[in-house]
Amino acid sequence: SKEEMEQRVSEIKHKLGSRLLIPGHHYQKDEVIQFADITGDSLQLAQLAQQNSSAEYIVFCGVHFMAETADMLTTPSQTVVLPDMRAGCSMADMANMQQTEVAWERLQAVYGDTIIPLTYVNSTAEIKAFVGRHGGATVTSSNAREVLKWAFRQKERILFLPDQHLGRNTAYDLGIPLEDMAVWDPELNELVTGREDVQNIRVLLWKGHCSVHEKFTVENIRSLRERDPEVKIIVHPECSREVVELSDYAGSTKYIIDTIQAAEPGTKWAVGTEMNLVQRIMNQHKDKQIESLNPNMCPCLTMNRIDLPHLLWSLEQIEQGDPVGIITVPEAVTVDAVKALDRMLQIR
Ligand code: 13P
Ligand code: SF4
Repeated sequence: SKEEMEQRVSEIKHKLGSRLLIPGHHYQKDEVIQFADITGDSLQLAQLAQQNSSAEYIVFCGVHFMAETADMLTTPSQTVVLPDMRAGCSMADMANMQQTEVAWERLQAVYGDTIIPLTYVNSTAEIKAFVGRHGGATVTSSNAREVLKWAFRQKERILFLPDQHLGRNTAYDLGIPLEDMAVWDPELNELVTGREDVQNIRVLLWKGHCSVHEKFTVENIRSLRERDPEVKIIVHPECSREVVELSDYAGSTKYIIDTIQAAEPGTKWAVGTEMNLVQRIMNQHKDKQIESLNPNMCPCLTMNRIDLPHLLWSLEQIEQGDPVGIITVPEAVTVDAVKALDRMLQIR
């Protein structure tokens, strides 16, 4: 039963003590989050991995790229485990190495040495390594502005992988007009732009997106505003430019939590992000009226693969001295990827 499983997880946690660390991303289910030693957005969880050098086992409740990052930022004696290997991120899979090499070569031919690559942390370790090798940095939704500013101090233009929306929203925020951005299509291997003077393009956006945040639409916002003009709309910057434009606030999962936390009782909020987080915010703020921006709650199916049975199973394997689902990024990849991660972690 659920109670028995919870009981067992508690027992193992107690038994392993500080040898075990369970980080949990804000999109995880409550049945998992209740056992997390620390919860956070992607940046906080990466910082945590960098700072913790004592836990022997890190059971990462989140998705594959987050566990890879944790592996790369911890010491070799620490073991990072993902409770279900199928917990990937569809956005991270939208840029592979071969496509990136082709894009880089073609873009170099047009722009020479004027481009710096940046990658959203929602990417594979290989892509992070590519970016690290070429002088670039990783980005999360909570430091994107600062990292882009840094990047523009290094080079004239940016190649932003793999989420076009976070790239576009952040560059727009920094005052770059939409005309000065273009999408790189990895299927067609070409830049999608109506412009002749491509030399004026400063932000090259990889054609990737999040299938969860894509579900929050301009139509959702229009019907909500019509129904109740007082509702404040807050979304994650993985939503499209149009959606962010029409919203009142946009930011990382931590930003969304903090903003609603700080709001007055009685205020009304529509939230454009993953379902488990929206549900948790609703439960924790009964004094505020909170709903999902899309009336059909939007789950991240891969985040949801980590559930109580998988968490228990992976803890039992550790208890028996036979951990499974170990995430090990090859050393050659780690060396370069860590350059990109470190550059990000140093930018304030
Ligand atoms: P945060 O860094 O805002 O937690 O976002 C991670 C993510 O995957 C959003 O879809
Ligand atoms: Fe990836 Fe989107 Fe899920 Fe975040 S919500 S992990 S970007 S698929």
